Amino acid sequence: MNEVRIGIIGIGNMGSAHLQCLYHHEVRGLRITAACDIDHNKLEAVHRDYPDLTCYDNFQKLLADTSIDAVIISVPHPMHAEIGIAAFALGKHVLVEKPVDICVSAAERLNDAAKKSEKKFGIMFNQRTNGLYQKARQIVQSGELGDLKRSVWIVTNWYRTQAYYDSGSWRATWKGEGGGVLLNQAPHNLDLWQWICGMPISVTAFLDTAKYHSIEVEDDATIYTRYENGATGLFVTSTGEAPGTNRLEISGTLGKLVLENGILKHWRLLEDERQVCKNSTQGFCQIESEYTEYTTSEESAHRGILQNFAEAILSDTELLAPGFEGINELTLSNAAYLSQWKGNETVRLPFDTAEFDALLAEKAAASSYDGTVRTEAAQESEYLSRWQVRW
Ligand SMILES: NC(=O)c1ccc[n+]([C@@H]2O[C@H](COP(=O)([O-])OP(=O)(O)OC[C@H]3O[C@@H](n4cnc5c(N)ncnc54)[C@H](O)[C@@H]3O)[C@@H](O)[C@H]2O)c1
Repeated sequence: MNEVRIGIIGIGNMGSAHLQCLYHHEVRGLRITAACDIDHNKLEAVHRDYPDLTCYDNFQKLLADTSIDAVIISVPHPMHAEIGIAAFALGKHVLVEKPVDICVSAAERLNDAAKKSEKKFGIMFNQRTNGLYQKARQIVQSGELGDLKRSVWIVTNWYRTQAYYDSGSWRATWKGEGGGVLLNQAPHNLDLWQWICGMPISVTAFLDTAKYHSIEVEDDATIYTRYENGATGLFVTSTGEAPGTNRLEISGTLGKLVLENGILKHWRLLEDERQVCKNSTQGFCQIESEYTEYTTSEESAHRGILQNFAEAILSDTELLAPGFEGINELTLSNAAYLSQWKGNETVRLPFDTAEFDALLAEKAAASSYDGTVRTEAAQESEYLSRWQVRW
C-alpha cells in the first residue's frame, strides 16, 4: 500500500477542518475519499464543496465501504468508543479525536478492540507535537530533573463564551458531552501532564459547576494529585477567566522547569538538593545551578498527527500519540469527577469504574439534553492556528 484511503465520521468544527486539510493534499499518503454526518445540511455542504467524495449519513454505511482503509472519528465524545469498536471490527485503522470517550470503561473496551484488530490506533493529541512539551518530557523522563517533587499546571486560557456553549445541543451537558472543561478543553493538558510527569496514584478535586456559564457541567476545576514517590501535583483550569494563564512548573531533586509564554526555562542544580540538605553545614545556602532557555515555534499540530498516522500505517512508524494512551488523561478527569461527586474525597487509582459509570448515568438521566445532536454550521477553519498551544 502506498496510499491510505480515509473517511471522516463527523463533519463539524473539527471534522471539517481535517477534511479541508486532507482534501488539499496536505498530508502525504492520506487520501480523503468519504465523509459521514447525520446532519443532512452538513452532508449537502460537503457534497457541494467536495463533489468527488462519497457521502454517508450513517457511520455503519461508511464502515461497510471496503475501499476505505482508515477513519477519523470526530463526532461528540460519547460516541467515540462505539464507532471505534465498529471500525476495528471491520478492519479499519482508527484515528480518534480527543478525549478517547467519556469514561474509562468505554476506553478499555476500545483498547481491547484495537488490540484484537492489530490495526493502527491513534488519538488526536495534537499538542504533543509542540517542541517545548517534547523537550520538557525528555528532561523529566531521562531523569535529568531527578526525582519529581511537585508539578503545578495553571491552564486557564481556555476562555469560552456562552455562545460557544450554545453552538451545539450536546455541549456541556452530562448526557451529550459527559463533562465540561475537563472533558472538552483540558484533555490536551491532562494528557501532556501525564506524558511528561507520569500518572499519580491519587486524585482529589474541587470542581465548580456553571460558575461562569449557563451549563450543566463544570467550567472551573482544581485538581490535587499525589504520586507514588510522594510528589504532589496541582492542576487548575477554567473556561471563564480572562486573561488566562498557561504555566507549567515542575520541580525535582536536580532542578526545575518552568514553561510559560512559549519559553521553557531549565535550572539544572550542580548538586542534588537532597544531598545538600543532608550534608551541608550551613543553615542557609543557595545551590548553584546552570540555566538554559529553550524556545521553539515547532508545532505541526493536527497536520503532524495526521502525517504520523499515515506513516504508521504505511511504514510502521511509531505513533506519537497512540490511541491506547487516551485512557490515561481520561482516568484523571473521571477520578476528578468521582472525587467531586463523593464530597471531594481522595480517589485512589485505579478507581472503581462501575461506581463511576453508575454516578455518571445518574447525571445523564437528569440531563436537559434530549439526545438530538444539533450543531451550528462549522466555523471557517484556521486549521493550524485555532487549536495550537496558546501561551
Ligand atoms: N483535537 C482538537 O484540537 C479538537 C478541537 C475541537 C474538537 N475536538 C473534538 O472533536 C470532536 C467533535 O467536536 P466538534 O467541535 O467538531 O463538534 P461539532 O458539534 O462541531 O461536530 C460534531 C459533528 O458530528 C456529527 N455527528 C453527531 N453524531 C453523529 C453520528 N452518530 N454519526 C455521524 N456524525 C455525527 C454532528 O452532526 C456534527 O456535525 C469532539 O470529540 C471534540 O472533543 C478536538
